[in-house]
Amino acid sequence: MKIAIIGGTGSIGRGFALRWGQKHHVIVGSREKGKAEDKAAEYTKALKDHGYDSHITGDINAKAASESEIVVLAIRYGQITSMIEQIGQKLKNKIIISVVVPMEKDTCIIVPDSVPLAIPADSREDYKADYFCYINPPAGSAAQEIDSLLPDGNELVSAFHNVPAAKLANLDIALNYDIGVCGNNMKSKKIVFELVREIPGMRPLDIGPLETSSMVESITPLLVNVAIRNKMKDVGIKFVD
Ligand SMILES: NC(=O)c1ccc[n+]([C@@H]2O[C@H](COP(=O)([O-])OP(=O)(O)OC[C@H]3O[C@@H](n4cnc5c(N)ncnc54)[C@H](OP(=O)(O)O)[C@@H]3O)[C@@H](O)[C@H]2O)c1
Repeated sequence: MKIAIIGGTGSIGRGFALRWGQKHHVIVGSREKGKAEDKAAEYTKALKDHGYDSHITGDINAKAASESEIVVLAIRYGQITSMIEQIGQKLKNKIIISVVVPMEKDTCIIVPDSVPLAIPADSREDYKADYFCYINPPAGSAAQEIDSLLPDGNELVSAFHNVPAAKLANLDIALNYDIGVCGNNMKSKKIVFELVREIPGMRPLDIGPLETSSMVESITPLLVNVAIRNKMKDVGIKFVD
């Protein structure tokens, strides 16, 4: 299969290229052709150094999308609208995978009046909390917003929101994560299930139609908060029964 990664030069794009580039033709997409080619060469070297085959090239996002059957949107939430305006027509009749998580850092200041015990003025900073939160897109989720922007004739699947980029790109460690997959077309979802299974230590779980994507997307800021506040690294999810 040919897989384009829009924003493939970034953190999570690197992981997808290193994992799927061993078997599929991965085209690393970028706004700059030279940067895409440089990253493709860097990923190729990383795979070869680990003794793996590599089928990775680089190109501008629009060209990468038009040449592929599967297109991964690996850019930030705020960049989605302008990107789809630019490359939307190249996305017709493709399976699109959204990994996009709308999240931002918030600051909560608990003013002394709102806490039961009086806090000395010099301790008030203790009540200032930084944390990440889900943005709540008007359409319900990033995936539903992307779906509304895409031209007719493609299948959007929402997945991989909860996998930390650093672990995905680390070929030296064993992974042990579940990947929630949301979408309205079972045929497209099954192709994504297979792409998940091809990554050792990853298990795909069917979450439901695209409308369920907000539940999976909103887990990511929780994972980041857990990691930061408890001095953990690259936290993901695993469901047990
Ligand atoms: N990082 C993670 O652990 C992780 C995990 C799960 C899901 N995600 C999701 O994956 C997406 C990408 O995250 P990331 O951490 O990989 O992001 P990133 O490294 O900050 O950026 C990815 C790529 O976006 C491109 N880009 C930057 N500004 C842009 C603009 N204005 N317009 C178009 N493209 C632009 C850049 O590529 P060029 O400069 O080459 O064009 C960049 O390499 C996000 O939606 C995030 O929520 C991330």
